[in-house]
Amino acid sequence: MRTQEVITAEAQYLVHTYTRPPFVLERGNGMHLFDTEGNRYLDFVSGIGVNVLGYGDYEVLEVLGEQARRLIHTSNLFYTEPQVVLAKMLVERSFADRVFFCNSGAEAVEAALKFARRWGHERFSSPKTRVLAMHNSFHGRTYGALSVTGQSKYHRGFEPLLPGVDFAQFNDLDSVEKSLTPQTCAVIVEPPQAEGGVIPAQREFLQGLRELCDERGMLLIFDEVQFGLARSGELFTYQHYGVEPDIVTLAKPLGGGLPLGAVLVREEVAQYIGPGDHASTFGGGPLACSVGIKVLEKLSDLQFLRKVRENGEYLHSRLMRLQARRSEVKEVRGIGLIAGVDTEFEAKALVEEFRKRGVLVCTAGSNTLRFIPPLIVEQRHIDEAVDVFHEVLEQGVQA
Ligand SMILES: Cc1ncc(COP(=O)(O)O)c(C=O)c1O
Repeated sequence: MRTQEVITAEAQYLVHTYTRPPFVLERGNGMHLFDTEGNRYLDFVSGIGVNVLGYGDYEVLEVLGEQARRLIHTSNLFYTEPQVVLAKMLVERSFADRVFFCNSGAEAVEAALKFARRWGHERFSSPKTRVLAMHNSFHGRTYGALSVTGQSKYHRGFEPLLPGVDFAQFNDLDSVEKSLTPQTCAVIVEPPQAEGGVIPAQREFLQGLRELCDERGMLLIFDEVQFGLARSGELFTYQHYGVEPDIVTLAKPLGGGLPLGAVLVREEVAQYIGPGDHASTFGGGPLACSVGIKVLEKLSDLQFLRKVRENGEYLHSRLMRLQARRSEVKEVRGIGLIAGVDTEFEAKALVEEFRKRGVLVCTAGSNTLRFIPPLIVEQRHIDEAVDVFHEVLEQGVQA
C-alpha cells in the first residue's frame, strides 16, 4: 500500500481513537525511523518510552528469533522457564519478593489495585478498600486505571467509574492528609507524573507518603510504567528517590517492544493472593519474557545506567541553555532521559514543526513538549534535536 492508501484505509476501518500525522512508518534502525517515502526521522518518542534500546538491537533480535522458533505461547496453565528467570531477575534487583506478569501498563495498574484491595480486605478486621490517587495523574484507560487517573478529560462520558477512589494534590502532603480516610488501603502515585506534563515528585513528598503509609497501615504503590527501568538513570525510579514502595507497576520498556507488564510486590501483599484470584492468558509468555530477560540484563548494566544519567544531564543542560536564550521557553522539567518543556506555543503545533525538520517528539498534555528518546541516545542526537528546537523557535510556529 502507498502512503495515502494506508491513511485512507485507516480512516475507513479503524475506530478513531488516534490523531496521527500524515506519514507511514516502515522501519527503524538505531535512533532513526524511516517512512514509506524514504524520509528519515531522529526518534525522540521511542514508542512512548518503549523502545529504550532503539531499533534493531542485535542481541534482542537474536533472542526473539531463537525463542519464536522454540515456543511462543503456552498460557499460564503450564510452567515455562523464561517467566521464572525474568521474575527472579526483577526480584533480585528490587525491593520486591514476587512478580505478577501481564501485558500493558494499564493491566499492571489493574492488578496492583486488586492486590491492594485484597490486602485491605484480609489484613484488617474492618476492611479497608479506598484508594488515594493524585490529581493530574495518568494510570491508563481500563476502568480501574482510569478511575485512579486524576484528569477529568479522560473520564468524560465513561462514568460511572470505580467507587472508593479519593484524590489529593500531587507534591502536597497536607492535601494527602486531608484526603485520607480510615478505610484507605493504598496510595498510588507516579514518582514523576508523566502524561500529566513530566512533573517530578519532590523527594520529601514521597518520603512523607512512605511515613504516612507506615503510620496508618496503607500500601504505597509507585506507577513506574513510563519512568521505570532505567529512564531515570537508576533501574527503578524509587531508587532515584531513595524511597521504597510496597508495589511497583512496570510495562513499557520491559518487553523490548512486545507487550509485557509486571507488578512487583512484597510478600506482605502477595500472601493474600492465591490461584484463581488474578490471571492473564498472555501475561508473562515465553516470547515476551525471553526478550524481557535480555532487555533487563542490558538496562541493569552499570555502565549503561551511568550513560543514561550523563546523557540525561546533557539533555537537560542543553534545554536549560535554550530556555536562557529564548523567552518562548517557559519551563524545563524532568529527570534522566525524559524532559517536558513548556513554551508559549501549543505543544501539538511544535511537534509538527519538529517533524517537518526530521525529528519526532510528542506532547505530554496540551502545553508540554516531551522529549523521550531511546536510552541509547548520544550527545550528537541531543544536539541535533535541541538545534532543531532552536530553529523552530527562531523561524516561528505555524498555527
Ligand atoms: C504512568 C503510566 N501508567 C500507566 C500507563 C498505561 O500504560 P498502557 O498504555 O501500556 O496501558 C501509562 C501510559 O502512558 C503511564 O504513563
